[in-house]
Amino acid sequence: MRSPFRPALLALLLLQGACQSPENAPTIAIAPLPPDRVGGALSSDAPANQLSPALSPRERLEHSLGASFFNKPWVSAPSNTHDRDGLGPLFNAHSCSACHPRAGRGMPFENSSTESSGLLFRLSEPDPVFGAQLQTRALPGFRAEGQVSLQYSEQTVSLNDGDIIRLRRPHYQARQGLSPRLAPRLVGMGLIDAIPQSAIAAGADPDDRDGDGISGRVAGRFGWKAEQESLKDQVAKAFVEDLGISTSLFPHSPGCEQNPLRCAAVSGGTPELSDSGLQAVVDYLSHLSVPRARQSKTHSEGWRLFQRAGCTACHQAQWQTGKHSSPLLAEQTIYPFSDFLLHDLGPALADPSGSLAKEWRTSPLWALGDGPYLHDGRARTLLEAIFWHGGEASHSVSRVQQFSGSERAALLEFLRAL
Ligand code: HEC
Ligand code: HEC
Repeated sequence: MRSPFRPALLALLLLQGACQSPENAPTIAIAPLPPDRVGGALSSDAPANQLSPALSPRERLEHSLGASFFNKPWVSAPSNTHDRDGLGPLFNAHSCSACHPRAGRGMPFENSSTESSGLLFRLSEPDPVFGAQLQTRALPGFRAEGQVSLQYSEQTVSLNDGDIIRLRRPHYQARQGLSPRLAPRLVGMGLIDAIPQSAIAAGADPDDRDGDGISGRVAGRFGWKAEQESLKDQVAKAFVEDLGISTSLFPHSPGCEQNPLRCAAVSGGTPELSDSGLQAVVDYLSHLSVPRARQSKTHSEGWRLFQRAGCTACHQAQWQTGKHSSPLLAEQTIYPFSDFLLHDLGPALADPSGSLAKEWRTSPLWALGDGPYLHDGRARTLLEAIFWHGGEASHSVSRVQQFSGSERAALLEFLRAL
């Protein structure tokens, strides 16, 4: 019996926990290159952390309040800075931008360190004491919930043409049941928010009825596991879990059930951030520019290879936003390259435990930037990010594994230009 696997590929497939032959992979129809206006009316040549040039000077001024709530550090109450106090008692950082610098990605910590800007730990199952997330910092008189340290071990993958990719696998020293999450870059948040939920749900195929080996499951759309459906919920959740700032949506700061009296002494109001303040941050993030894709000959070759590798089965290129009060967000054709569904990418990426352990939302690929990539920042390069894919994406990985060096380069150039 002839084995369809060469040894290197076999090693790769074992690594990814896959068992399907690439020869059974579905054939893929190649669509024309999407236009360069990746973010509809919000797209521009401005960097992703700046308000879109399509806004009027007055609108930009209106967003400065949201920008300051996002960028400036919050302080503990009582304080003279009434509109920015209420931090904690338990928290992970003083500001949103501490983890999302310039609205971008965080960095995981390096070997044996516990200091990170942007890596946080959610609990695989909500815990009666620790809640849904490990808060690693606390105001004086309160106790932080713990620290986590990290070591990487190295493993290699050999490609068809002899090239070798080194992957680093993270190992956390902590109590069991943590789900590490790196702060993602915040690109096109308002546009993603404006996609009708019914359109996302229409793409779901939880039982893989079409038999393509890919079974997307619908949940919300924000976060690495798509746990939040709306941007407002996601932002309010970030305020309460990451900074300990309550809003009308989440009125209880973590750590307050155990110490209600001591908590009241450091409360910055009820709620600590008003509804209009919350909306200001949502509006600010919603109107950041979405960088335009750079088009070139290699770009179109890369798009063809992206489809040939079956990446579009999950990284769906195009969406149409629905109705919205902001004309820059309403009825726009956008190219976020995600189906916003949950997929099983195999054991190598899965959390150690929890009902959502294996599930990850397809990451949008517009304005990918410099990395690090994937939910815990383990991938230092785009190629590493691709080779950590397994499970439902195993066919795609084997196809990239068989690409020539110049084909791989064209695929990566395409991704970098999105
Ligand atoms: C301690 C680090 C940290 C801080 C501080 C932080 N974030 Fe985040 N942010 C994250 C992580 C990690 C995720 C992914 C969460 C998940 O998977 O559940 C995230 C996700 C998000 C998302 C969803 C992105 C997407 O692609 O779905 C938004 C929006 C967001 N944060 C906004 C904020 C705002 C606003 C603040 C300040 C109130 C904030 N964040 C503070 C780490 C942080
Ligand atoms: C079965 C669905 C699926 C397929 C097929 C798939 N991906 Fe992904 N992709 C995902 C999911 C889910 C994630 C998030 C995984 C994580 O962070 O752990 C992801 C993450 C990524 C990332 C990292 C993005 C970031 O911001 O960290 C890149 C790059 C990427 N995919 C590229 C590709 C390419 C290129 C292909 C085709 C060769 C491909 N993917 C095929 C589902 C898929």
